[in-house]
Amino acid sequence: MRIYFDNAATTPMTKEVVDAMLPFMYEFHGNPSSIHGDGRKVRTALEKARKTIANCLGASIGEIFFTSGGTESNNMALKCAVRDLGVKRIISSPVEHHCVSHTIESLARDNGIEVVNLHVDEMGCPKYAELEALLTDNDTPTLVSLMHANNEIGTLLNLQKVADLCEAHGAYLHSDTVQSVGHFDIDVNDTRISFLSAGAHKFHGPKGVGFIYINNDNIIKPFIDGGAQERNMRGGTENVIGIIGMARALESAYENLEGWKNHISALRQYMKDRLMENFDNLIFNGCQAHPLYTVLSVSFPPSPKGDMLLMLLDMAGISCSGGSACSSGAAQGSHVIAALNQPAGYNTVRFSFSHLNTKEEVDAVIEKLKAIIPARVTA
Ligand SMILES: Cc1ncc(COP(=O)(O)O)c(C=O)c1O
Repeated sequence: MRIYFDNAATTPMTKEVVDAMLPFMYEFHGNPSSIHGDGRKVRTALEKARKTIANCLGASIGEIFFTSGGTESNNMALKCAVRDLGVKRIISSPVEHHCVSHTIESLARDNGIEVVNLHVDEMGCPKYAELEALLTDNDTPTLVSLMHANNEIGTLLNLQKVADLCEAHGAYLHSDTVQSVGHFDIDVNDTRISFLSAGAHKFHGPKGVGFIYINNDNIIKPFIDGGAQERNMRGGTENVIGIIGMARALESAYENLEGWKNHISALRQYMKDRLMENFDNLIFNGCQAHPLYTVLSVSFPPSPKGDMLLMLLDMAGISCSGGSACSSGAAQGSHVIAALNQPAGYNTVRFSFSHLNTKEEVDAVIEKLKAIIPARVTA
């Protein structure tokens, strides 16, 4: 049996999610835009899914739009803010996911948008004072785009603080919440966010489906031209099966939030303790006091087989990641780890957990690691 410690890359679908989707594969095949009975049945299910998702975030149903996932949602927020809301400046950070940072780069290149990247501290957290200074006494129409939870190192943004700053200074706020939706309570009534994004596969839903929350105050034009789907905002027949699965997965994530969070947090701490017990000179990346509890990023000091760590773990039946999955296979190292100014030669592994993982799996991974990395002699 393989051990899957790469849940920040994607999570397995649970049985209840698959069960919720099955009738929409076998039985309910209508197009939700058709006005006949078969279509109406599916439309009703689709709108019920929208309501479920809206309820999870305290949003209204008119503020939730289905997309193909986190990447599309982030593209939509950033590009529509520039095109339709008159944004001329984007304040972001060097540790964003590439689907945010590359989109911002293209907006700078093609639309002449001014881009300011905040400095980050040693935990990869953007400097709030710098953000406040940039927003104060500046009337350039601005969008702040900062991720809620970092997918590589698990550092959490103080979203409330950033939302309050943006509201006080009249800036729009986009947050890439792909790693935090379904894992933390987010209520858009308490936390004023203009755009928020999610991908179902990060909370045990299917891949290739997600949603964007767009606050009602922001009137934007269609992101994909075509039919009138998604209230004219995104043409194309909806991914009904995926959307049904996503809604069930999110509902389940929030129903089980406390239990799963406690289990995963305890597992993360156990893994951290066992690593410290067995290995010297480790660096735990990102904020450790209040982390994204699903992620444990650790850097091992230089060692003969360190460069091959991920491959050797894989050969030993363990799936984990060096940085984000989206950039694994890329020749260059992680831009997030680079922003932390680590000593040279360290090898970083991201272990990321779900409620399906166990302590026995952690023990097994530690044993495999001991065969690869020089372990503490006294351990
Ligand atoms: C923080 C973050 N943003 C965006 C994405 C992209 O999401 P999706 O795979 O749904 O397009 C990911 C996926 O790894 C992510 O971790």
